[in-house]
Amino acid sequence: MAANGNQCLDSEETTFPGFATAALHAGQEPEQWASNSVVPLISLSTTYKQHAPGQLAAGYEYSRGGNPTRKVLETCIASIEGGKYGLAFASGLAATTAISQMLKVGDSIICMDDLYGGTNRFFNRILVNSGIKVKMVDACDVSCIEAAIDATTKMIWIETPTNPTLKLVDIEAVCKVAHLHDIFVVTDNTFASPYFQRPLDFGADIVYHSATKYVNGHSDVVMGLIATNREDIKDKLHFIQYASGGVPSPFDCFLVNRGIKTLHVRMRTHEKNAFAVARALEANPRVVKVTYPGLPSHPQHELAKKQMKGFSGMVTFRIKGGLVQAQDFFKYIKVFTLAESLGGFESLAELPAVMTHASVPPAQRIELGIDDTLIRLSVGIEDMEDLVNDVNQALKNAVPDSLL
Ligand SMILES: Cc1ncc(COP(=O)(O)O)c(C=O)c1O
Repeated sequence: MAANGNQCLDSEETTFPGFATAALHAGQEPEQWASNSVVPLISLSTTYKQHAPGQLAAGYEYSRGGNPTRKVLETCIASIEGGKYGLAFASGLAATTAISQMLKVGDSIICMDDLYGGTNRFFNRILVNSGIKVKMVDACDVSCIEAAIDATTKMIWIETPTNPTLKLVDIEAVCKVAHLHDIFVVTDNTFASPYFQRPLDFGADIVYHSATKYVNGHSDVVMGLIATNREDIKDKLHFIQYASGGVPSPFDCFLVNRGIKTLHVRMRTHEKNAFAVARALEANPRVVKVTYPGLPSHPQHELAKKQMKGFSGMVTFRIKGGLVQAQDFFKYIKVFTLAESLGGFESLAELPAVMTHASVPPAQRIELGIDDTLIRLSVGIEDMEDLVNDVNQALKNAVPDSLL
């Protein structure tokens, strides 16, 4: 146990061969509770009785440093990501902040130019104020990363698939280049989920999730989760977690741990429905272009097949016409809900240029292809036919025949 009273969260003792078995059982041992409870308990206590000053009974001291319900979740996420250590934070961005706190003045980072808008905002409007340089490059082309590396580069941050344009980054190729220069790589795995992609297997040093999305899957918790195999990184982040304090509540940990129990089942249905919606959109004359990594038309479909076990539930498309037609599409959808976020059981639709990516400077947005006609769908687990019929009827109502 660490000197600060934190628990070291090592999943090595509970490694399971299958994803579902790990999701259901890693870290969940009933024997850890006096009652042998099969379902983990929600430990609300902020403090723990000590045997003698500094002598902890079960390794817990103060709940910011370590909490039994949080430990269950941290062990579970580590196991399903194929990592040794897991850490939970109060939001995805709290995890981003904690990871960035491993850097110091004078360091620089390289990140994907096509990032979730909030990550872009954090790096370019907050992190830069700490004397850390941020270089944004097209990480789809590894040579752009190579060209941007200098002696100050300490971290490379990639997202794959990206939000919202669903570009892919070759995780293995980026890690090979980074490790030649002793740079650590963080992979935001939010869009794929651990069920469909395991970045640690390709050499990533940290795998990151906005667990708010697929990992929890029920749109009722905001949380960040990370996993790593590197003890040095775990120790640093563990200390930052304790010392900076961006920890989730035990109740939220309980909910996310519960959500993980159905992750594999949900992801299979998300993918089946997303394929059906993407194919229907491709066949619809009111659509200019569909992007889905599972379709052969995706420019990086081969890379998708190499590093992903499935293609998840996110689909984007360009509607014929302009902003008026895009806005009208949202008026007519009935099963999909117009809302930000993704990865919950329910289907959502949004306009990134005006919603999730409004904070990205307009010129950069246009360069990345995030224009007024780009619509992002988070395809949920409703009945497939209802989802396909919904997008088709909304398109028919939104785009007049005169535009065909
Ligand atoms: C890909 C991605 N990364 C990170 C985040 C930030 O996570 P959170 O909203 O949980 O802070 C989001 C949120 O939408 C996201 O989509």
